[in-house]
Amino acid sequence: MREFHLDLNHPEFVFDPYPQLAELRENRPVFFDPAWNKVFFTRYDDIAALLRDRRLGRSILHVLSRDELGWPPPNPLTKNFDYFQSNHMLDNEPPKHTRLKGLMLKAFTSARVEGLREKIQRIVDGLLDRVQDQGSMDLLRDFAEPLPVAVIAELLGVPEADRHWLRPWSAGIVKLYELGYTDEQAKNADQAVVEFSTYVKDLAKQRRRRSEDDLISALVRVEEQGEMLTEDELVANCILLLNAGHEASVNGTTLGMLSLHHHPDQMALAREAARRGDHEFFKIAIEELLRYDTPLPMFERWVLQDLDFNGARLTRGMEVGLLYASGNRDTRRFNNPDRLDLTRKDNPHLTFGLGIHYCIGAPLARVELQTSFETLLKRLPKIHIAKEPVEYTGGLVIRGHKAMPVEF
Ligand code: HEM
Repeated sequence: MREFHLDLNHPEFVFDPYPQLAELRENRPVFFDPAWNKVFFTRYDDIAALLRDRRLGRSILHVLSRDELGWPPPNPLTKNFDYFQSNHMLDNEPPKHTRLKGLMLKAFTSARVEGLREKIQRIVDGLLDRVQDQGSMDLLRDFAEPLPVAVIAELLGVPEADRHWLRPWSAGIVKLYELGYTDEQAKNADQAVVEFSTYVKDLAKQRRRRSEDDLISALVRVEEQGEMLTEDELVANCILLLNAGHEASVNGTTLGMLSLHHHPDQMALAREAARRGDHEFFKIAIEELLRYDTPLPMFERWVLQDLDFNGARLTRGMEVGLLYASGNRDTRRFNNPDRLDLTRKDNPHLTFGLGIHYCIGAPLARVELQTSFETLLKRLPKIHIAKEPVEYTGGLVIRGHKAMPVEF
């Protein structure tokens, strides 16, 4: 297999990865990167096929031991983080994944998401009430960050007074999803897992005593019906919902706003749709914003069984990097993919993944983003980025911004 090094942290790549991804799709649909020790795939069809292929999985330790993999012993700094990972759906494979996801879906139903729509609108309006008369804000700090945290807090049933803990806990934990974290970050993440777990256990205890109309109460009931969601699994999956459920939504909002800002014709279309209250327009437009600049541009899979794939020999224990952001711009699948077209109908983007790990929160993320963009453009029709270039946080696992000053 051909070798190539993809410098994921190069400032130019972080700022705009799409030109290099286009070049890779043409010339290197698959390559081995010795520095990351991964085989990368860049084309839509390959990524989609591998996501559906059960010979690959998000975890490997159920198939090979650390010794067999040649891994060092577990890092004591991430003991609690590792235990948390072992209990949530994202880092498990069938049969455990099937059981965990099935139980979570019993409580995290589409009716529950629909039931949150009005609350989400109220949260959005409340955030905009605070800044409406200012004429400017940091879209990240004042809107994009607090919104999903408030929504997850509503979903789970975290009382208002405790919500300020959620963002720092989550921000600490997700650092470990980036490639190459420091010891300091590992310690912080582990501590955040401990504090967060204690908190959720306590909340679950309260809900067992007195049930409320929230997800934790519903999960406690699922657990109590003898369905085998252990306390540790309940805790781990709630923590996962918070992490998975807001980092990407935050970045989906700022990336989406930047895309609109760079495409004045599309911004004008969206503004007009917001003025006439066209919810259907935003349902389609949000999908395009999520495709055009992908908040979670890359996910990995382990090879669980040897396979030959389009000329590449993938052996058990290898790691594969699937560049969803690249697949989302593939001309073999999308018509004129480098064009932002908010009315695009044929849009099977990879932004929420595919296969058994398909995002459980996609319906909630969609409601959040539809409500956000429609309301932002309706209430602040002149909104535009105040200062460019905007700074990126770096990393290709979570693509986001450090701040986004806007005027309106
Ligand atoms: C724009 C927002 C979001 C994006 C782009 C996103 C993206 C994704 C992707 C790509 C995956 C699959 C990962 C893989 O293929 O390895 C995933 C899984 C997941 N997401 Fe989301 N997500 C978003 C919002 C949410 C929300 C709001 C929640 C929860 C409230 C959530 C919870 C989860 C969970 C629990 C999984 C694991 C599912 C499984 O392993 O079966 N996500 N998400």
